Amino acid sequence: MRRQALILSTGLVLTVMALNSCTPQLGRSSDEQVIAAMTREEKVRLLVGTCKDWNLVPEPAPATIHRPPVPEGYWDNYQGNTATMKGKVSGAAGISYAIPRLGIPEIVFADGPVGLRIDSVCTAFPSTALLAATCDTELVYSIGRAIGEEMLYYGVDILLAPGINMMRNPLCGRNYEYMSSDPDIAGATAAAYIRGVQSMGVGACVKHFAVNNQETYRNGIDAQLSDSVLRGLYLRAFERVVKESQPWTVMSSYNKINGVYAAENKYLLTDILRGEWGFDGFVMTDWWAEEDPIRMQQAGNDMLMPGTDLQIDTLLAALEDGRLDEAVLDRNLMNVLRIIRRCPSFRNQGMTNPDGRSLEQMLQSHADLARRAAAKGMVLLKNDNNALPVSRSGQRVALLGKGSYDTYAGGTGSGCVTRAYTVMLSQALAEAGYVLDSVVASRYCGHIHHSRSVQPKESAWYMPYVSELEWSRSDLQNMAKTNDLCIITLQRMAGEGGDRHLTEGDYYLTSVERSLIRDAAEIFHKQGKPVVLLLNIGASVELTDVCMYPDAILLTWLPGQEAGHAITDVLTGTQLPQGKLPMPFYVRYEDVPSAANFPSSDGNPNIVIYREGFVQPERTLYPVGFGLTY
Ligand code: BGC
Repeated sequence: MRRQALILSTGLVLTVMALNSCTPQLGRSSDEQVIAAMTREEKVRLLVGTCKDWNLVPEPAPATIHRPPVPEGYWDNYQGNTATMKGKVSGAAGISYAIPRLGIPEIVFADGPVGLRIDSVCTAFPSTALLAATCDTELVYSIGRAIGEEMLYYGVDILLAPGINMMRNPLCGRNYEYMSSDPDIAGATAAAYIRGVQSMGVGACVKHFAVNNQETYRNGIDAQLSDSVLRGLYLRAFERVVKESQPWTVMSSYNKINGVYAAENKYLLTDILRGEWGFDGFVMTDWWAEEDPIRMQQAGNDMLMPGTDLQIDTLLAALEDGRLDEAVLDRNLMNVLRIIRRCPSFRNQGMTNPDGRSLEQMLQSHADLARRAAAKGMVLLKNDNNALPVSRSGQRVALLGKGSYDTYAGGTGSGCVTRAYTVMLSQALAEAGYVLDSVVASRYCGHIHHSRSVQPKESAWYMPYVSELEWSRSDLQNMAKTNDLCIITLQRMAGEGGDRHLTEGDYYLTSVERSLIRDAAEIFHKQGKPVVLLLNIGASVELTDVCMYPDAILLTWLPGQEAGHAITDVLTGTQLPQGKLPMPFYVRYEDVPSAANFPSSDGNPNIVIYREGFVQPERTLYPVGFGLTY
């Protein structure tokens, strides 16, 4: 009996082994053989991500989305495409489907672009607009490489970055994640960034392809523009990036272009991207893009992220009744497998630190890099009478502006990094030996603490509002007597999910801010003491009516976790500000070429017509390329 059982089980093992040895394996067999061995369901599942949290499906912009009909009761039983959901990297944005029997691992996608966004601590680098301002592609490359190192360490395969939509209008909420209003500046910077990321053997994803230059109605706005404007301006940075850095992946955008969703746009995704530019990676949708899965697959949108069961069911049904040709899926699978083979997850290389440094050592060296880069990309807009740099230490400073004590590292949304800390300007100046006016400091600290304590906690998607403090002229007179200089920080927050507003407190300064800058300048100047204005912002504000008052104006951007140190380095001259503006500051908002067509045109919230002309240099306060140094 026992002998018989042994023979039987040995036979079984051998049969399984024989079967296994015939089963194609990714990397060992050709991709065609691997695809041929897949079931239809496996094919579809691999082209649809494994949705983690269906609760996150955002409400579409009104009247801009055509949702496929959902059967009654569908949401009651919804499980998500959770077949392989393991939460491998907590906080990552998505995971692909694994087919272990064919040697296909799941791969992990996480945001970008100002650092890796997962639940664990990563480095918050300066905004990508600041990186573009450095004009230093080697430095940008090293930042990309550092992010790639953190990806490798934490087990992330694809970084959902960089974003290179044009800064068409200063009000776009995501400008801090983009690079420039000039396609060549954006293209060159992004190519260096991608080369850096990918030098670590992980992938980048250039986004959002294309013409996604606003957040308002981003899920359905129809961007109407001529082919020459499309190619010459809005595709040009993508073209440079594809040709110069071969990104592993591209993310299609939510919007329509000339009536067709970018995610369903064959002209864009196949004819131009692959046919003309030679892109050889895969295209994925932006998250929860709910366009038609069949049309997306046909257009060359290889992977649907983060993936829903509804997409799977729709694709399977379409294969069954002939609306979708299986050859389309096979073509898209070839693109996906080609990239999976390059991924650390395929190489079985999770949680590795290539040069053997500890996590702490790696993060420390990246923090140093973030500080150096942030200082280099700050743009000195004005420096009358060499007000900057200020002499080293021991100086008494009236440090004004809530942003001096609550300095913003970055913007909100999917580009917000889980960082260990943000260095406040007040903290860094004190460390450097400056003596801060304690009455001023304690009033700001109390005000900020109180304002934050009565609002929900700061999160990736929410920044508590803190108003600017008012100071009377007699307060300022007292400060001017007892301090050697005055530094004022003006700040603005912005991010994904909404555009900025053409209101006081956003694009325009409030009356409190204007009076503070004007009065402080007048009063400190009477004592022969300088006033420095710092701009802790992601994109421009209207400075036309205040720029004459301060002696120096320094655009510090959203400078990342080392904010305070980097600003102090520049104020003291330890680092030279070398940034050149990658987008202009306009004299008036009406001078922005897209002013009349942002975020929509002709009173129709669903359409934005790109009918603007060129920037008139004389209508800019500070043009692209402007930046002083010491
Ligand atoms: C954003 C993308 C991001 C994705 C994943 C979307 O809401 O538009 O830029 O990569 O979410 O987090």
